[in-house]
Amino acid sequence: MEVRTLDAAMGAEITGIDLRALSDDTFEKIRDAFLTHQVIAIRDQVLSPADQLAFSRRFGALEDQLNAHYTVPDFPEVLVLSNDVKDGKPVGLIDGGDFWHSDSSHRPFPSMATILYAVKNPNEGGDTEFANMHAAYEALPAAMKTRIATLKGIHAVSKLKNKRVTVSPRRPDGKDFYERQKSLPDQIWPLVRTHPATGRKTLYVSPRFTIGIEGMGEDEADTILDALFAHQIRPEFVYRHRWRDRDLVMWDNRSVIHQAAGGYVYPDTRTMYRTVVAGDRPF
Ligand code: OGA
Ligand code: MN
Repeated sequence: MEVRTLDAAMGAEITGIDLRALSDDTFEKIRDAFLTHQVIAIRDQVLSPADQLAFSRRFGALEDQLNAHYTVPDFPEVLVLSNDVKDGKPVGLIDGGDFWHSDSSHRPFPSMATILYAVKNPNEGGDTEFANMHAAYEALPAAMKTRIATLKGIHAVSKLKNKRVTVSPRRPDGKDFYERQKSLPDQIWPLVRTHPATGRKTLYVSPRFTIGIEGMGEDEADTILDALFAHQIRPEFVYRHRWRDRDLVMWDNRSVIHQAAGGYVYPDTRTMYRTVVAGDRPF
């Protein structure tokens, strides 16, 4: 197994392994690489949904998928992200990841890691961007670090509660879906989170899910949030992943935010299989 750094911001690629036949020792090395590099791209994998599930489960319990109608038949924990269409119907979720976010920060137990397997890459576009929230936190001006040290962000899942995002017009059921989600409870998490495995501090906030600051008026909160949102995606924190065929990419939602960069147009199709490892309550 070889591990090579991908970018100055973060990220590593791993080659020379087959995830279908993984020794405990190699698995531990993958886990180490994941914690060190935050985003890992494991190259040249030929995986069925069952193989992807078995690998994902080694990290812990999996999350259920909110978009249950887009999961792989008989695999409720494997979500299909896709812009493909069969018999006039979308085969998967079309607007997954369309604004910067950390997966499931709106849930009572936000995700530890997300695992995407490239089933079909488009000919153009389809990159995923990742931003390093350890680096972003460390680079904050001292006054901002002090200002936000004890503040808590409000995380909401429905796009209709968030003035900074829009519902994709490519998603026919979008408005109804997000309307129903309005009744789900918001979650309150520290803006500065401590990574439970490494003890490092991380900026835990994102324009997709963070809609306010607990106990603070909107104007004051917006001034802080807009400054953090601009800061956290500065180019020096961002690694942009250009997908190769047979890539499996895994990222740490506790220390990384990400977004789908788009840039492909049907009939150029992109299809990914997605599994999510459950995590701990942020502190
Ligand atoms: C996700 C996600 C980005 C992409 O699966 O959580 O944000 O590029 N995906 O598909
Ligand atoms: Mn995501």
